[in-house]
Amino acid sequence: MAAGGERLQKYMARAGVASRRRCEQMILERRVRVNGRVVDELGTRIGPGDKVTVDGAALEPGSREYHLLNKPAGVISAASDPRGRRTVTELVPSAQRLFPVGRLDRDTTGLLLLTNDGGLAHRLMHPRFEVDKVYRVEVEGILSEGSLERLRSGIRLEDGVTAPAQVGRVSVHGGATTIELTIHEGRKRQVRRMMESLGHPVISLHRSGYAMLTDRGMAPGDSRVLSEREVRLLKQLAGKGAR
Ligand code: URA
Repeated sequence: MAAGGERLQKYMARAGVASRRRCEQMILERRVRVNGRVVDELGTRIGPGDKVTVDGAALEPGSREYHLLNKPAGVISAASDPRGRRTVTELVPSAQRLFPVGRLDRDTTGLLLLTNDGGLAHRLMHPRFEVDKVYRVEVEGILSEGSLERLRSGIRLEDGVTAPAQVGRVSVHGGATTIELTIHEGRKRQVRRMMESLGHPVISLHRSGYAMLTDRGMAPGDSRVLSEREVRLLKQLAGKGAR
């Protein structure tokens, strides 16, 4: 262990284990070993040649991966599922332990980032840096101009008023309405709850945009690796380097 090396929790986050804060908890839970010895102090520093394991698995910082998936319906947004249901990580080929950045409901389709970069994932999900998400939302009934206005100004839900949304491109078809809704918050089942509170339950929900990324050219179930430029842009959006 090196006196001037990198703090253990930072090293772990860089290796994609989890956010720095979660890594601190894992250290305190005595799940982390350095050179074979359990470490439960947050001040520990790691230098070249030190071997770190978490729950017995060796860490290899540096091999960070960033994938974009067009999630099909019926798949769980989790790294694993105790009930054995199909998860998004099964759809993305990688030797790394990836996890999704945020969640889409099981029946929601569309864009989901998967990475082993715990630091970036944490920032992208942080309310301070929430990036724009574009949803194509099909709802029951015909949405009135008043309902669209309420979406634009904010809707009172049980966990508070939603931030103003952008609403665009409306089509009406056979007693249903499709809108494009852009929000930057990421509350649980937010779009479904917003539409329910307007009296228009969601028929289908698809995330077609995430920050500067779109689903153009991606069929359901397709995934691709982000380019270096895309990763750089996401890091800028997530304020990396700002703290
Ligand atoms: N809002 C929802 O209600 N569900 C999702 O999956 C995503 C956003």
